[in-house]
Amino acid sequence: MFEHVQTAPPDPILGLTETFNADTRSEKINLSVGVYKDAAGKTPILATVKEAERRLLENETSKGYKPISGDPVYDALVQKLLFGAGSDVIASKRAFTAHTPGGTGGLRVAGDYLHHLHSDSGIWVSDPTWANHRGIFGAAGLGIMSYPYYNPAEHAIDFDAMLNALKEVPAGDIVLLHGCCHNPTGQDPTVEQWGQIGQVLAEQGALPLVDFAYQGFAEDIDGDAAGLRELMKHVDELIICSSFSKNFGLYCERTGAITFVARDAAQCTAVGSQVKVAIRRNYSNPPSHGGAIVATILGDDQLRKQWEGEVAVMRDRINGMRQLFVDTLKAKGVDQDFSFITEQRGMFSFSGLSKEQVDELRDKHAIYIVGSGRINVAGMTESNMDRLCTAIAAVL
Ligand code: LMR
Repeated sequence: MFEHVQTAPPDPILGLTETFNADTRSEKINLSVGVYKDAAGKTPILATVKEAERRLLENETSKGYKPISGDPVYDALVQKLLFGAGSDVIASKRAFTAHTPGGTGGLRVAGDYLHHLHSDSGIWVSDPTWANHRGIFGAAGLGIMSYPYYNPAEHAIDFDAMLNALKEVPAGDIVLLHGCCHNPTGQDPTVEQWGQIGQVLAEQGALPLVDFAYQGFAEDIDGDAAGLRELMKHVDELIICSSFSKNFGLYCERTGAITFVARDAAQCTAVGSQVKVAIRRNYSNPPSHGGAIVATILGDDQLRKQWEGEVAVMRDRINGMRQLFVDTLKAKGVDQDFSFITEQRGMFSFSGLSKEQVDELRDKHAIYIVGSGRINVAGMTESNMDRLCTAIAAVL
């Protein structure tokens, strides 16, 4: 059975880290996978997470299975994070949330659900988008199309082209949007543009699917949900996939959620029952630990406040690195204007470096960035900045 199996190409993001780990050059720098590092180059465990774990260790009494959709307390807290306390979507019971293994798990559940119940529907993703989106929805059996999103010459969203393309999306298709901190470009629509997107999708009868993996990394927790909340003024059905890998630093705990918003409570109950079928067939029920941490933090006013402060520290450090990166490139005599990097939001900088320059950075300078030219700014530190910018100046 295995004799003629061909070797698959490495994953464009996680595969690079495997190569990085095997690289024996001591000065190597990994700016590929989207993982936050502190000023010392370490991926820290948040103090609030440690405190939640301490409480869990003391109070946990069972390792029994969780419900298929996870702990209802967690699911309710996720909805509050997305829609805000006092949201009428919550009050009218129009939302169903399930705890999923990471945001990726949520995206796959969405794909399975959609393919099972709407096998003729295709999904539209931005060009460019996170490298794994196509893989996930393709594996679920959905047809994948793309809409224009980014103008590399302007380092900005090509909003007219995007909106015009969305006006051609057939009814019943799904449109994937990034809730904030678009991966890989770091360029988000304004709140007003979110409203326009919502209007077009409502007119087309298309279903938005919002991938929300960086809440808190652009402005703050509520500010980063402003686009989603504006969108929801125009559409009454949508899907949201949340990830808590970055904003809680729970990468390895695989903690996320999928939320469906339906027109009314009865439709929501029916949809929720189908989501549970999709989950049961996939991984049965979610892993508990990460969700219990998130619920402990979000359910305690003092811990939640402290956590928001910890997210702000990560966000501010990344923004500081953006500025230092641009300044250091300039100081190295790079003529090209990289000031657009300070306008981008979230972990990534879509640098505009070519595939050849990316290859040269890896081969000659032991600097790892994704083939699209996406640089993880959260991996930059004051200590690696000089070497990084010297190398970039050399390849430019
Ligand atoms: C990334 O884009 O680097 C992260 O979302 C991690 C991943 O799984 O690709």
